[in-house]
Amino acid sequence: MSKKLGQTDSRVLLVTGGAGFIGSNFITYILQKHPEDTIINLDVLTYAGNLENLKGVEGDPRYTFIKGDIRDRDMVRGLFKTYPITHVVNFAAESHVDRSIVDPDIFLTTNIIGTEVLLDEAKRAWKIYPEDKYSKEYKEGVRFHQVSTDEVYGALGKEGLFVESMPLLPNSPYSASKASADLIVRSYQKTFGLPVTVSRCSNNYGAYQFPEKLIPLMINNCINDRSLPVYGDGMQIRDWLHVIDHCSAIDAILEKGETGDIYNIGGNNEKANIEIVKLIIKTLGKSEELITYVKDRPGHDRRYAIDNTKITSQLGWKPTYTFEQGMKETIQWYLDNQKWIERVVSGDYQGYYERMYC
Ligand code: NAD
Ligand code: TYD
Repeated sequence: MSKKLGQTDSRVLLVTGGAGFIGSNFITYILQKHPEDTIINLDVLTYAGNLENLKGVEGDPRYTFIKGDIRDRDMVRGLFKTYPITHVVNFAAESHVDRSIVDPDIFLTTNIIGTEVLLDEAKRAWKIYPEDKYSKEYKEGVRFHQVSTDEVYGALGKEGLFVESMPLLPNSPYSASKASADLIVRSYQKTFGLPVTVSRCSNNYGAYQFPEKLIPLMINNCINDRSLPVYGDGMQIRDWLHVIDHCSAIDAILEKGETGDIYNIGGNNEKANIEIVKLIIKTLGKSEELITYVKDRPGHDRRYAIDNTKITSQLGWKPTYTFEQGMKETIQWYLDNQKWIERVVSGDYQGYYERMYC
């Protein structure tokens, strides 16, 4: 196929939240898989941002780190002026449900306002006729991808799966902020014709996950013989996806996804929380006496489960990890990276930016 005028082979990706769990895995994945790509990682380094996750790519000339906030419009505009950005992949977010119950405000400003700032500046930079409010012509090949979550659909009962056409019924301040962002993204496509895609994926697990989420928290506590706090009856169900499978799915959407479309991403691994906790205990050779049932999370969603038919049939993506293999490797990774987790738990990792960049 002949190349269209203005189309370049090399992409310049603005990856936001790239120092977090999924973003850092994604940057490493893309730089390995696409030698022609350049990545600008924009991250404000909240408690969840850890540049140590990116040690492996720090010296790569195709990679640049910028410390900054997606809510900072002037700074974001400056980035679009400085770099020939062709893609935005927006991971930046406050991502933990429990924190959103304690302090929702920042979830609204980061997840909603931050997304709107990125969309608006992408529109301004990519529009061929920026002053014409009716024009929907954009530079060739540009794309804004919003990383969303299956939690925007709310909770399922015992039966059924989330499909892309379902209404949004979020139950926590976190999921409500992500659902709001999805609607803003939709409005930029419908009103301004901005080339966007959205992915909604299930719970991720794998290397470099901050130990406040279920799997790394339980692994770390179990290794250290600390109690394992299971909310309520432990029978809530999540549909687990290995982080590398999430990265390959976003890669497929960037390459082949239809503008304006939403893609569910799931690993077909429905597990009750208590099953996972028991699997971690067994793998580490510890006692089930470590399990402590604690008061349930308010508004706790009972079950999430993804129908991934659209992405598998239309884009040819499929998950490669079985849950058993993924968990085995993940537990081993935490055992092999005790120093990483010690620095995260002690807060020492937050000095890394000063040590490296200042
Ligand atoms: P994370 O909390 O590990 O990382 C979030 C990153 O965003 C951090 O590096 C943080 O410093 C950065 N950030 C936060 N506020 C920012 C701001 N205002 N400006 C710039 N950077 C900012 O999150 P994660 O688990 O890697 O999740 C990434 C994305 O994937 C999020 O949008 C989340 O909603 C979505 N998601 C996550 C999961 C999961 O299981 N972890 C599942 C579905 C969807
Ligand atoms: P989490 O990893 O916080 O992800 P999410 O809330 O986005 O699904 O929690 C996964 C499940 O594990 C959820 O049902 C809550 C439960 N959970 C516990 O039982 N104990 C814990 O200490 C944590 C962090 C989570």
